[in-house]
Amino acid sequence: MINAAQSGRFRIGNAFEVNRLGYGAMRIVGKGIWGETPHRAEAIKTLKRLPDLGVDFIDTADSYGPDFSEELIHEALHPYGAIRIATKGGLARTGPNIWIPLGRPEYLIQQAYKSRWKLGVETIDLWQLHRIDSKVPAKEQFDAIKTLIRDKVIRCAGLSEVSVAEIEAASKFFPVATVQNRYNFADRASEAALDYCEKHGIGFIPWAPLNAGEFSREGSELNGVARKHKASPGQIALAWLLKRSPVMLPIPGTGKVAHLEENVGAAAIKLSDEEFAALDRAGKAAR
Ligand SMILES: NC(=O)c1ccc[n+]([C@@H]2O[C@H](COP(=O)([O-])OP(=O)(O)OC[C@H]3O[C@@H](n4cnc5c(N)ncnc54)[C@H](OP(=O)(O)O)[C@@H]3O)[C@@H](O)[C@H]2O)c1
Repeated sequence: MINAAQSGRFRIGNAFEVNRLGYGAMRIVGKGIWGETPHRAEAIKTLKRLPDLGVDFIDTADSYGPDFSEELIHEALHPYGAIRIATKGGLARTGPNIWIPLGRPEYLIQQAYKSRWKLGVETIDLWQLHRIDSKVPAKEQFDAIKTLIRDKVIRCAGLSEVSVAEIEAASKFFPVATVQNRYNFADRASEAALDYCEKHGIGFIPWAPLNAGEFSREGSELNGVARKHKASPGQIALAWLLKRSPVMLPIPGTGKVAHLEENVGAAAIKLSDEEFAALDRAGKAAR
């Protein structure tokens, strides 16, 4: 039976455990990650399927929609039982595909409270700074996060799209529980951040684990291994990530039940060391 538990468990911020293969909730809103989804019934069905498949870690953000992703998660799954929800703040939206860093501390605090209300939780298990805003002193943004933890608005905090130096700088203000950077089989720009996370027991959440759907197309380097495992190339990309590091927490995004089931199926695929190494070389060469 397909179950995300086959991916193993990871403890986030020494606070709570999740199955390593999670779900990204950016694809349950409108085109350009803007407005409501035109496929509302399927999106709700996809969310409701998560607990059956053992997926207990959902990644979302206040800016997905904005608001609609968090609201749909609440509508479909509240009360959440064993599911832990990670959200993010720190990006303003003014139109489809437009994302503007906004790191004023008062805005970050307001957004975390709003996410808490939209999700219907007393404390947000994991809140991530979506981007460090270069227009605002980093110290002010980190201080806001420290305040949110102190006031129990959020339990754990993470960062997104950061370097090792930025993780270290933030760690002086609060324990960095997770890092969410773009990373997949063919995009390896964040190797140093990933290695740092592994060394320090920080969860690493690779966004675009399927290269935004690219890996599902025929003709990628993943196809040969996929055929051997009677799997899809996307499943092999996810299995490769899971083997890459014990702190890896992939969050493939979809608004479709069939795609969700396929993605969770990757938890059961165990690549050999040789397959892993060959894909590692191919992924690096594909850059
Ligand atoms: N921190 C950040 O800055 C940041 C940025 C982007 C995303 N994220 C997070 O990371 C998550 C994952 O990233 P992502 O959604 O951009 O990329 P992704 O997971 O690599 O790929 C998602 C895309 O692939 C398609 N897809 C998913 N499963 C499929 C399958 N089995 N077969 C065929 N197509 C499939 C989806 O379309 P369908 O809906 O049609 O399945 C969607 O277009 C997001 O949901 C979000 O939570 C974070």
